[in-house]
Amino acid sequence: MPREILVTSALPYANGRIHLGHIVEYVQSDIWVRAMRMAGHTVHYVCADDAHGTSIMLRAEKEGITPEALIEGVWKEHTADLRDFGVGFDHYSSTHTEANRELTYAIWRALEANGHVESKPVKQLFDPEKQLFLPDRFIKGECPVCHSKDQYGDACEVCGSTYNPIDLIDPYSVVSGAKPVEKESLHFFVKLADFEALLKGWLEDRRAAGGLQSEVVNKLKEWFADGLRSWDVSRDAPYFGFEIPDQPGKYFYVWVDAPVGYFAAFKELCESGRKPDLKPADFERFTQPGHGTDMVHFIGKDIIYFHTLFWPAMLHGAGLRMPTAVNVHGFLTVDGAKMSKSRGTFVNARTYLEHLDADWLRYYLASMLGPTLADIDLDLKAFEERVNSHLVGKWVNIASRCAGFLHKLFDGRLADALPDAERTRYDNAAKKLEACSALYEARDYAAAMRLIIEVADEANAYVAEHAPWVLAKDESKRAELHVVLTLALNYFRLLTIWLAPAVPATAVCAFEFLGDAPTCFDAARTPLLGHTIRPFKALATRIDPKQIAAMIEASKESLQAAVPASSAPHPGPLPQAGEGAKPASVAAQSPASSGPRSPAPGPATISIDDFARLDLRVAKVLACEAVDGSDKLLRFELDAGELGKRQIFSGIKAAYPEPSKLVGRNVVFIANLAPRKMRFGISEGMILSAGSGGGDLFLLDADHGAVPGATVK
Ligand code: MSP
Ligand code: ZN
Repeated sequence: MPREILVTSALPYANGRIHLGHIVEYVQSDIWVRAMRMAGHTVHYVCADDAHGTSIMLRAEKEGITPEALIEGVWKEHTADLRDFGVGFDHYSSTHTEANRELTYAIWRALEANGHVESKPVKQLFDPEKQLFLPDRFIKGECPVCHSKDQYGDACEVCGSTYNPIDLIDPYSVVSGAKPVEKESLHFFVKLADFEALLKGWLEDRRAAGGLQSEVVNKLKEWFADGLRSWDVSRDAPYFGFEIPDQPGKYFYVWVDAPVGYFAAFKELCESGRKPDLKPADFERFTQPGHGTDMVHFIGKDIIYFHTLFWPAMLHGAGLRMPTAVNVHGFLTVDGAKMSKSRGTFVNARTYLEHLDADWLRYYLASMLGPTLADIDLDLKAFEERVNSHLVGKWVNIASRCAGFLHKLFDGRLADALPDAERTRYDNAAKKLEACSALYEARDYAAAMRLIIEVADEANAYVAEHAPWVLAKDESKRAELHVVLTLALNYFRLLTIWLAPAVPATAVCAFEFLGDAPTCFDAARTPLLGHTIRPFKALATRIDPKQIAAMIEASKESLQAAVPASSAPHPGPLPQAGEGAKPASVAAQSPASSGPRSPAPGPATISIDDFARLDLRVAKVLACEAVDGSDKLLRFELDAGELGKRQIFSGIKAAYPEPSKLVGRNVVFIANLAPRKMRFGISEGMILSAGSGGGDLFLLDADHGAVPGATVK
């Protein structure tokens, strides 16, 4: 049954440039939109810049321009970057529009009328020099837990603790350097507790319908355990945003009007008349409950709460429809590590485009993206090899090897029919690829790409076996040659139809060459016969590793000129990819991929002597408990054999909610790390675990027989 779907990608902040991390999301959603359209659904796809907040206000001030001028310039840059990555939004707006102001006010008034709003005084750190309430990220100071200097107001990047900015030692304002003072002011809140039962029901309902990933629902349920606290939705002037109606000097927190921006962008699209299948009245059909339309959001794992708690609560509280699905993806790493400006792996979208083709990265990401929250690694060597082998070697090559003969010997015309054996081959391949439709819909692009490459391998085996270059030399074999070329080029067309959502620009060129313009997956059922194709032009060239090296180099150079990455406030408790050192984990620091990595500076290899300096030991857990006053730390007491007993604090609480269960098991730890004094006591070493941090951490073990104190070499 064809469906009508409004699809959104998260709105990028208007205070920084689009980088390859963002691209993961825009490419994931764009592929989905294209695939759903090719499967016969009606899809409307919108996005916008998220233009409000303290960061944007301060950056404009620093540049000596108005926030309006800043966001206008960024909008131009963002739209160009996304367009050049082939992301085909039907409309790309901004949250700083009248349409968004009106909708935000309407939702707010409905929340008020329905009794979901309360106000109360809040104490917050205030910059007395700048006369500004400071978001957590704009306060730094000494970590109250491990005493590292210059840590942010919400979390320590050294020990991973999270805390209230008021607890920082010697805090200072990042804006002025002044010592912040505590100041009270009236804030407005949305009473989330009003929606607790509704949200619980909605989460389960969406999980069952495939609209929410289980991992996401489970995380949210932990949050419900403590009861839903009211959500603070107001900020004091000066602030760049929408003033709260009838409350002079109070503004909506950026996260209130940001998701409303999805609706505002869609409203503008409906009213623009730009899409023949949308009229102004369709806005109601998609935003009021009960019209049978779908609303699907794509987001990264750092903004789950906003989309699965706050936003649905706001919608329901205002009598509007709830999302059909919130699809969450993981974060991009490069060569197994967090994107890094100094290593040149924090690559802006534009820098990439200056060196490499957008479809190449789209294909690589497609081959890596699954339906889970797992992080996606851009392994630069694998990227080069996969693009060269799959896209150029297995796909484009079919056409480039066959087109010339068809033009030279058959005027570019495909045979009128295929003999039974060839036709069966084609039908079987077409049938096999039909599974991709469901895989695209389930966002398992990696599985879809694997299937496509399997068929490409079949096609190449067929061409190799029938060697058209040999047949072409024998005039008596013209008919046979014609069949081989016709089937091979139809294989190429079939693969192109199924690859099109992932590599749209290259697919357009391929279809131009074929003189064909299929718009749905169904077109793959019928081969092209008795049809004249155009002369072959190169569709894609191989990646030269020098291009990748140049991109990395340019990303290092652009460091001085670079716009600071988004520093707008994010919510606390979920793992924040791209932020925070993971003290207990060595995995995050060691690139997981293999193969030479030309551009990475620093010690790519170490000597055996370097390794020998680490005293790694096996230990048995004697006791393990959560640490009062820390959300991250577990306290371990270890039996380290000949080294005696050790106490170690490890920031893995999120991964091991029941610490007592660890008693009796083995762990591996660094025994000769200098002891560190923490607020809770002395930590005598570091326990090793694998994973990306937060809940994704796994303690290492030793096989049966290893005794406490045994060295690990
Ligand atoms: N402005 C908010 C979203 C508001 S939606 C109503 C925001 N902006 S952002 O610019 O920080 O991020 C935009 C999207 O890109 C988010 O979904 C975020 O998760 C995603 N990503 C940002 N960096 C990313 C990676 N390094 N990797 C993958 N996705 C990333 O959040
Ligand atoms: Zn710390």
